[in-house]
Amino acid sequence: MENLSFLFSIPTLIVFGCGCIKELGKRVKELGGSKAIIVTDKGIVSSGILGGIKDILKDSGISFTVFDEVEPNPLDTTIERGKEVAIREGCNIVIGIGGGSSMDSAKAIAMRVNNQEGTLLDYVGVNKVKNPPLPIIAIPTTSGTASELTIFSVLTDSRDMTKISIGSDLLTPKAAICDPLLTISMPPNITAATGMDALTHAIESYVNTMATPVTKVLALESIKLISKNLRRAVSRGDDINARTNMLLASLLAGMSFRHTRLGIAHALAMPLGSWDIRLPHGLANALVLPYVMEFNLPGNLEAYGEIALAIGENPGVTLRETALKSIKAVKELIKDIGLPRSLKAVGVKKEDFDRIAQEAMKSGNLAVNPRVCKKEDLISILEASYEGE
Ligand SMILES: [Fe+2]
Repeated sequence: MENLSFLFSIPTLIVFGCGCIKELGKRVKELGGSKAIIVTDKGIVSSGILGGIKDILKDSGISFTVFDEVEPNPLDTTIERGKEVAIREGCNIVIGIGGGSSMDSAKAIAMRVNNQEGTLLDYVGVNKVKNPPLPIIAIPTTSGTASELTIFSVLTDSRDMTKISIGSDLLTPKAAICDPLLTISMPPNITAATGMDALTHAIESYVNTMATPVTKVLALESIKLISKNLRRAVSRGDDINARTNMLLASLLAGMSFRHTRLGIAHALAMPLGSWDIRLPHGLANALVLPYVMEFNLPGNLEAYGEIALAIGENPGVTLRETALKSIKAVKELIKDIGLPRSLKAVGVKKEDFDRIAQEAMKSGNLAVNPRVCKKEDLISILEASYEGE
């Protein structure tokens, strides 16, 4: 299942390496920025990361204002407040620092400053953005979402607390500054959940119908890096080697799924992050991924076999045996990094399965999943994830 006719483009300038945050001032100037709005959350402010970034901007003679009101699963109303700040302060560049929530908020705020017609909700969907946003520089402090180079901004509709996404090539950040030192302060539970988000990106991209020879190389390398480094990054946050490899793995998976889209796990993660359920995105993926793999296995046995070998499993006697080892290995990884292993354990109720499946059926990710699935299939996957192991 390989797509031999493809386009491949990553318009984001990627700056990667320990200490590369020092280049921020230079990159802001290259993009014509003179007044920045820094979009972030209170955790980044209290971690001290923001202080260092302010100093770099001051030393480069760039003025800035800080918008630090981003919450987990950011609301459309938060974006509108950030837009007002950016307009009032006359900002001409947006810097998003943090995890997916901060980077996705930065993208949406940059978009709204130059697309002021209607409300933010009018831009939900794909290719609804008309004017290029303010230039965006994304600085990840987690290793998972890869929002630093994707076209999506994932937010929450404050009217009914449903997760929504705005997708447009125009939302792709102009530059991503990926400094592993900024991920050191991430606590173990967030390291684990975001790492599983990256692994889910890599696996869903590798097995889906849009995979190309280029995206497969990127996804497989990401899977190798995560299987070798995630346990270490969770166990010892100051292991800079593990942190560097995890940030690289997240980036490679992002380069891959930017072109392929994802699969059932990400379709389910949207409603699992909605309403009163509101699971963190990476955790939602980790809870369903092994059972999505079980469902998908017949759709791309070969790819799952290759994933098992990339993780370091020995080949089985048959291809099916090898492929099954990929699921076993993912379950072992989730156990070792200490994440909850069933929907039951995190309080998701069986009564919600119908509406979760209903909402997931709207996802564009299902169109590229290696196995065609119906709503009843999603409910079966949720039932298996509910029991877990
Ligand atoms: Fe994700």
